[in-house]
Amino acid sequence: MTARVLHLSDLHMGHGEAWEPLAALGELIADLQPELLVATGDMAHRGRRTELETAATLLRGLGLPFLAVPGNHDIPFTLPARFTRTFTEWEHVFGTTEPLHAADGLVVVGLNSVRPWRQQGGALADERLAHGMARLQEGPPDALRMVALHHHLAAPPWRAARKRPLSHRNDVLRALVAAGAELVVGGHVHQGGVAERREFKVLEEGPRRALVLATAPGLGRPRPQRRDEARGLNVYEADAESLTVRTYAWDGQALLEVGRRTFART
Ligand SMILES: [Fe+2]
Ligand SMILES: [Fe+2]
Repeated sequence: MTARVLHLSDLHMGHGEAWEPLAALGELIADLQPELLVATGDMAHRGRRTELETAATLLRGLGLPFLAVPGNHDIPFTLPARFTRTFTEWEHVFGTTEPLHAADGLVVVGLNSVRPWRQQGGALADERLAHGMARLQEGPPDALRMVALHHHLAAPPWRAARKRPLSHRNDVLRALVAAGAELVVGGHVHQGGVAERREFKVLEEGPRRALVLATAPGLGRPRPQRRDEARGLNVYEADAESLTVRTYAWDGQALLEVGRRTFART
């Protein structure tokens, strides 16, 4: 059993720049043949339907099943729509804010961490977390169990700015682990980052398999002045013994592998 997932984030469609890495993305997909594409939010830049549709068209054009969760840029910026039609456009284009992929070797649960009264911070309502935990238990025991949400749990390696980690992240992480999660992926910080829980926490419950937190570099670039902000994506690969995270960065022509970490699953 091998599961392979391509994770991209933060396309920020609609900010005006041509979407340059598309050909390179197609080449990487042809090369790696992932079974699923996971998109962790900020597909649009100002939450407009046309932007969301542009992103959805791009994702569909890649020819893979995909799962997308919303980011803080995917809801209306203006009042009252921000509160009265928070996810209306997203649901019209993508169907749901909490997608699920359940296959033999891979279960991916999408969670919606966007709240209209927050701009940068994210949170999960208790009942939505409980719903996600129940869904994580679908699929066979040896399936890779993955959670996808926009907001990061681990701090970014470089710029931090106003982007605080997900609210109540300790409680959320504990709950997701108890439900069987092995891999929690997000975006929002526009920086690649990979951490295993035992690298920063002593576990009361003793040894258990790895819990990996990963953020993908942004694949879009919403702020032209940030010319040094890397664009890229992650690829996750799991077999019975190990889970590997590979990070790719776009060099202006191709998506090049710039890092790889492997964790034991057993
Ligand atoms: Fe973003
Ligand atoms: Fe974001």
